[in-house]
Amino acid sequence: MLQIKNLESGYGKMQILFGINLNVKPEEIVVLIGPNGAGKSTLLKSIFNLVDIYNGKIIYKNKDITRMPTHELIELGISYVPQGRQVFGNLTVKENLEMGAFLTKEKELIDKKLNEVVEKHFPDLRKRLNDYAFNLSGGQQQMLAIGRALMQDPQLLLLDEPSLGLAPKIMKGLFRKILEINEEGVAVIIVEQNAKQATKIADRILVLEDGKVALSGNKGILKDKRIKKIYLGGR
Ligand SMILES: Nc1ncnc2c1ncn2[C@@H]1O[C@H](COP(=O)(O)OP(=O)(O)OP(=O)(O)O)[C@@H](O)[C@H]1O
Ligand SMILES: [Mg+2]
Repeated sequence: MLQIKNLESGYGKMQILFGINLNVKPEEIVVLIGPNGAGKSTLLKSIFNLVDIYNGKIIYKNKDITRMPTHELIELGISYVPQGRQVFGNLTVKENLEMGAFLTKEKELIDKKLNEVVEKHFPDLRKRLNDYAFNLSGGQQQMLAIGRALMQDPQLLLLDEPSLGLAPKIMKGLFRKILEINEEGVAVIIVEQNAKQATKIADRILVLEDGKVALSGNKGILKDKRIKKIYLGGR
């Protein structure tokens, strides 16, 4: 469904990614791990055309989407939840969700989708629809950010460290939610520093280091001594 071929990207003159290759099958969860500054966020931003791409190709459903404008990417079914809880605190939960459907013109369709997303995935938000987003807990804000991304019916969901700063129990709930969304047919690429939890739901794992793929494969790679030491040890 998504193929990244020899991707080189960065910020202006500062190249961050060097020759990244990645293949994501439909309905797969790919977990991206790697130390701070490895380029994990940059990789997601490259797919969403938010950084400079110098070389390589990004193919989505047999279509070249390299440097395609973001709204077209959303129309094609790609949604992105950036790092940090990006909800609009001074808007209500409902307004935040509605914003996720900004490409949809008809109010009725938006309402229908909103009900669907809340009912199906985030029933906890039902009672909070008219609350300001800043009044939600960290976990709820993250759920809201993901809920907003679902408003556009994505087939590929890009999540950048959704579990950051969440208590372990909340984090587990979040990963369960992500698995549930995936089981409905949404492919997911998720960046995580909490490798232990995230890799439990992974179909495939990609380890980035210094802007390059250091290792990739199925859960088997977790047995790699180096991975164990760096990512699964203390966390
Ligand atoms: N807007 C920017 N302009 C210039 N350099 C940037 C910008 N954003 C990130 N970088 C640099 O790109 C490199 C990779 O950053 P990136 O955010 O992709 O890493 P990461 O793997 O997501 O790290 P983290 O785990 O801390 O989120 C870092 O050296 C960072 O300083
Ligand atoms: Mg990052």
